Amino acid sequence: MSKKDKSKLKVLFITSELAGITKTGGLGDVSYALPKALKALRVDARVVMPFHSMLIKRPVKKILDSLIVKPGNVEIGCSIYETKIDFIQVYLVEHQIYFHRPRLYDDGVNEYPDNIERFCLLSAAALALAQKINFVPDCVHCNDWQAALAPLYLSRLKKVNSKFKKTKSLLTVHNGHFQGKHSAFYQGFLGLNEAFHMYAYEDCGHINLLKGGIFYSDYTNTVSPGYAEELLTLGGGHGLYMAYQQKKDRFLGILNGCSYEIWNPKTDKYIAKHYSINNLANKRHCKLDLVKQFGLKNDDTKPLIGMVSRLTEQKGFNYAIPAIYRLLAQGIMVAVVGDGDLGLVNSFHHLKYLFPDKLIWWHGYSEEMAHKIEAGCDLFLMPSLFEPCGLNQMYSQRYGSLPLVRSVGGLKDTVRNYDIANFQNSSGFVFDEPSAKAVYNTVMWGVDVYQNHRDKFLSVVKSAMAKRYYWRESAREYIKIYSA
Ligand code: ADP
Ligand code: GLC
Repeated sequence: MSKKDKSKLKVLFITSELAGITKTGGLGDVSYALPKALKALRVDARVVMPFHSMLIKRPVKKILDSLIVKPGNVEIGCSIYETKIDFIQVYLVEHQIYFHRPRLYDDGVNEYPDNIERFCLLSAAALALAQKINFVPDCVHCNDWQAALAPLYLSRLKKVNSKFKKTKSLLTVHNGHFQGKHSAFYQGFLGLNEAFHMYAYEDCGHINLLKGGIFYSDYTNTVSPGYAEELLTLGGGHGLYMAYQQKKDRFLGILNGCSYEIWNPKTDKYIAKHYSINNLANKRHCKLDLVKQFGLKNDDTKPLIGMVSRLTEQKGFNYAIPAIYRLLAQGIMVAVVGDGDLGLVNSFHHLKYLFPDKLIWWHGYSEEMAHKIEAGCDLFLMPSLFEPCGLNQMYSQRYGSLPLVRSVGGLKDTVRNYDIANFQNSSGFVFDEPSAKAVYNTVMWGVDVYQNHRDKFLSVVKSAMAKRYYWRESAREYIKIYSA
């Protein structure tokens, strides 16, 4: 049992996105689901995020007209709005120049050059707001590099405001590759001063926000035990393994959960027909509906391979695309929804041109398509180069669309490889090598089981559908840190 009574725990959760308000990836899903699960465990978890005013389409209310912060040598003024989503209290930091933009982090090609200023404001404003409304949290929970200045600012606040003396900070690394690296020129703006040294925010003469956040936070975690192990290694630490090593006694992996109220084929509002473990026949209608929507002809003798992904190197496309080419060439249908790097987008345009009746290709971001693909496909491909946790493999297990994953990070922790001696406990297909050959061979292994061992395939589908990754369990792990 925690030292502190759970019902009294207070958490200030700083994030750059939140599903249901505005989301680009898994961080948004977590920022919605974790505070919600914490609330259910009677933690007063409140979220602070930017007011992405061009993108947020929900009722908001201004609660503070003017909040002035001065993290370094520049004063920045902002306003604070609030909104609620499923009883989660969300504070929105409004700044016309920094946050009134059509996208969250980039202009579609390049990152916004002033990202460091934008997210410096987020961290500074979150702590200023907490003081202003007298919300003294047990823990400031910072997410990714966008909130990685908050541990430093909190350490300073503790020295001048005794109310915050006991507040601790936790930095969650959702993706160790993105570190918020910028020119040392911004030191003054951020007020780094004594924190600009080789163990903290300085990295080869540049600013590295994530690195400093690891150093200054009381605890650091990442989103799966598997990825935590990788971050501690030279090859898997994205250049920061020493920072993780130095934090080893206060660094751990906590697996993300799955939001089953959103991802459930029994209730999903986007799919053609609801289905469940006891009524799998309807899953076929979801496949038919998806294929028909794109004017293509269904072929029940072959599995449909699905993908829902940001199109980036992280997700393994560099070696998966040649494998996808081979699969399409031999008549296997693939359904992809994705957006991201221009080169990868063009590769899919080209594949669509080459195989118009075999590839379902939706360029862009679409919640509806993501759900339709999860339900409509038979096998779900995630060949990631690295994967801190990954959520889609959890969704696809729930939807009985067997994940084909590379054995890294959270994928390794959540997918049980098909085992001929124990297929009832298997939940997908796992491979090691980051190569086109390995992707192709693994997909073909899934195709073979689908075509030639249908009873076993169905057993694995059922065992995958029965697996659960509850947010409640993850939230309990976070509570241990908040109340340590
Ligand atoms: P990451 O955060 O690295 O992108 P995750 O697997 O943790 O990977 O989470 C990705 C989330 O974003 C999932 O909810 C997935 O369904 C969603 N997603 C990714 N790309 C798209 C897209 N093009 N359209 C709709 N949803 C998407
Ligand atoms: C990141 C990771 C992904 C993880 C998500 C949520 O975007 O790439 O693996 O699931 O954050 O933690």
